[in-house]
Amino acid sequence: MVIMGRKTWFSIPAQNRPLKNRINVVLSRELKTAPEGAHYLAADFSSALRLLENPELEAQADQVWIIGGSSLYKEVMESSAHQRLFVTRMLKQFDCDTFIPNINLDKFRLLPEFPGVPAGLQEENGLQYVFEVYESVEQ
Ligand SMILES: NC(=O)c1ccc[n+]([C@@H]2O[C@H](COP(=O)([O-])OP(=O)(O)OC[C@H]3O[C@@H](n4cnc5c(N)ncnc54)[C@H](OP(=O)(O)O)[C@@H]3O)[C@@H](O)[C@H]2O)c1
Repeated sequence: MVIMGRKTWFSIPAQNRPLKNRINVVLSRELKTAPEGAHYLAADFSSALRLLENPELEAQADQVWIIGGSSLYKEVMESSAHQRLFVTRMLKQFDCDTFIPNINLDKFRLLPEFPGVPAGLQEENGLQYVFEVYESVEQ
């Protein structure tokens, strides 16, 4: 299952919505019905998670991924839920208008490695980046 804010949903090119092989949940306080192509609409984050109380959905969704945008990341990263952050850190400066919240290192620790996540410097089309996986620590 992927959970995202309304603007993130509409930032995905129409031909790629919904994200395939995933239950797409869109959060909005304003929309009354799910946008065309989305599977579910939820009015807040806990309602989105409550969708998993439906046994049929729960059986299909082995993982829950929160895929932005910034206010949703902030809300979840400040919550006490056990979570992992999968971060792609681009080693280049860009002009941006939307940002992920700062990662609180008292709350999240950077894992030395994670199964399936390539370690070390990556490069694609001349752009260098690294993958980082953080895990929330017991408070
Ligand atoms: N690089 C990445 O990894 C990444 C990931 C995600 C997004 N993005 C980019 O970020 C931009 C969008 O991010 P954004 O932060 O501006 O917007 P966003 O979080 O995607 O969408 C904001 C909207 O989502 C709804 N929403 C958010 N949290 C909610 C909550 N807890 N309960 C109910 N509704 C909630 C509200 O919709 P209503 O106004 O309808 O109430 C809010 O106005 C896009 O440009 C996208 O491409 C990048």
